[in-house]
Amino acid sequence: MSDGILTFPSTLNTTAIVLALVASLCCLVPLFFRKTVVDKDGNPTPPGPLLRYPFLRKFPELVLDGWAKQFGPLFSLWMGNQLYIVISDQHIARDIFVNNGAIFSSRKNYFIKNQSILRGRAITASQYNDKWRHHRRIAAQFLTPKAVTKYANEIDYEAHILMQTFYTSTAKGAGPVSPQHDTVRYALNVMLIMALGIRTDDSTHPFVDRTLELTLEFNDLTGPLSNVEDFITPLQWIPTTMQKRGRKLHDAFVEVYGGFLLEVKAKLNKGEDVPDCLAKTLILTQEQEGLDWEDMCMLIAVFVLGGVHSTAGIIQWFLALLPAHPEIQRRAHEELDSVIGQDTWPTAEDESRLPYTRAIIKEVLRVHAPFWMATPHYSTEDYVYKGYFIPKNTGVILNCFTLHHDENRYPNAHAFNPDRYIDDHLSCADSAKLSNVMERDHWTFGAGRRICPGMAVAERELWLAISRILWSFTVHEMPNEPISLEEYEGQSGRTPKPFRVRMIPRHDRVHSLLQSRDEITF
Ligand code: HEM
Repeated sequence: MSDGILTFPSTLNTTAIVLALVASLCCLVPLFFRKTVVDKDGNPTPPGPLLRYPFLRKFPELVLDGWAKQFGPLFSLWMGNQLYIVISDQHIARDIFVNNGAIFSSRKNYFIKNQSILRGRAITASQYNDKWRHHRRIAAQFLTPKAVTKYANEIDYEAHILMQTFYTSTAKGAGPVSPQHDTVRYALNVMLIMALGIRTDDSTHPFVDRTLELTLEFNDLTGPLSNVEDFITPLQWIPTTMQKRGRKLHDAFVEVYGGFLLEVKAKLNKGEDVPDCLAKTLILTQEQEGLDWEDMCMLIAVFVLGGVHSTAGIIQWFLALLPAHPEIQRRAHEELDSVIGQDTWPTAEDESRLPYTRAIIKEVLRVHAPFWMATPHYSTEDYVYKGYFIPKNTGVILNCFTLHHDENRYPNAHAFNPDRYIDDHLSCADSAKLSNVMERDHWTFGAGRRICPGMAVAERELWLAISRILWSFTVHEMPNEPISLEEYEGQSGRTPKPFRVRMIPRHDRVHSLLQSRDEITF
């Protein structure tokens, strides 16, 4: 009897435990394992890794590259509850992003990045809707190639100041330079001139640190595929430090950029002269354009968020690469000396006459794209591509790392070899329009309708900075200070780890050109 009494509940317990386990498994498995979604015609989502991921480990581009090799040029990936497709082939990239731009041009409404910080604004965070079109059109007035030529003198001047800063901070080449801060101030000044009609007149100007602090906080709060909260919805219901920081950053953007807007407004009200800039346009057209204050603050903010670390990062990667390639440096010097000579340095107009120098810039953009995953797009309709189902609301990742290391397109792809671009005479924007996608230079600025609208200004800044560095200096590694080209800083935008180089003036004219230009304040 006692046995029976004991046995019965124990059987019940076992059954209950097994049932509970099965039930838990049924609930848990979908949380951890991928789901293949099939449409009404039996088309499945593209293949991909078995597990779902809350985030990707360090060097996410290498993880995606490994999966592209395993699952092919179109694979799918579950980040928590969000499905992504990852595109690692030029033709598929064109078919999806360009030919089907009407379907694949939105953005996911990320919890921290889009909802908490940018609140659906700043162009990059807007879904594919009228607000996005409207804000992109306003920004484009300052970013098209034609618009950029209006700022030609200012960009030229900032490039001069950058060279001068390298020259003076190294005591005319005698000491080392750590190029991070100076390159960031260069790119920041160009963006400030275009967005607000102001510049910082000293490396120690408090605004340099303040804007950098905000940008770094933005980069820190937003990963390459955004945050774990975006993929595990219940985490959004728990108040976290990330959420608090996101809201604080939003307020800081409004305070800092709104503060500048108010200053511009006050000047305009007093009838004072304000240089043509985005802020002036926004204030003068606010009513007619139907913009609210946050729209305006975020439009200013995106010039600094999108246009500073990206451009400065490419100049830093260039300086990090150069000492390891004396032969490339020598060839560039030869080209500059024979085409430009040593009496004067290269200007924007000389670009087409210096194909090797141009090729170096394209190669840096390929090898060290700041955003290996561009900025993921988001689909707004169900779509079937070559038998694979891509449901509405799928994230779409342009796998730039794998695309940029495709041996069919870039033989010996891991080598830094500017010669591969020697016959490429197109700007990045024009190259992106080529019908033969295998001739396109690279994917560093993204693709399709969301392609970076800042390409023309970025290219102008890169040209003036890099061609003048090459004209002015030879760049050397510091003894016992190897420069890492594998490690990098930043989640949503990569820059090299801090490093120092020597920049030695190449000839006498460098000294006379770089001794005496005054910093302008306006
Ligand atoms: C070397 C410099 C730069 C690089 C590598 C770069 C790269 C990118 C990439 C990869 C995207 C995402 C494209 C996509 O979704 O397909 C993007 C978007 C964007 N970039 Fe740039 N960018 C650079 C400079 C600039 C500059 C100077 C600005 C000036 C304001 C700028 C403003 C923007 C904006 C507003 C977007 C959002 C576009 C949209 O969502 O419609 N970028 N950029």
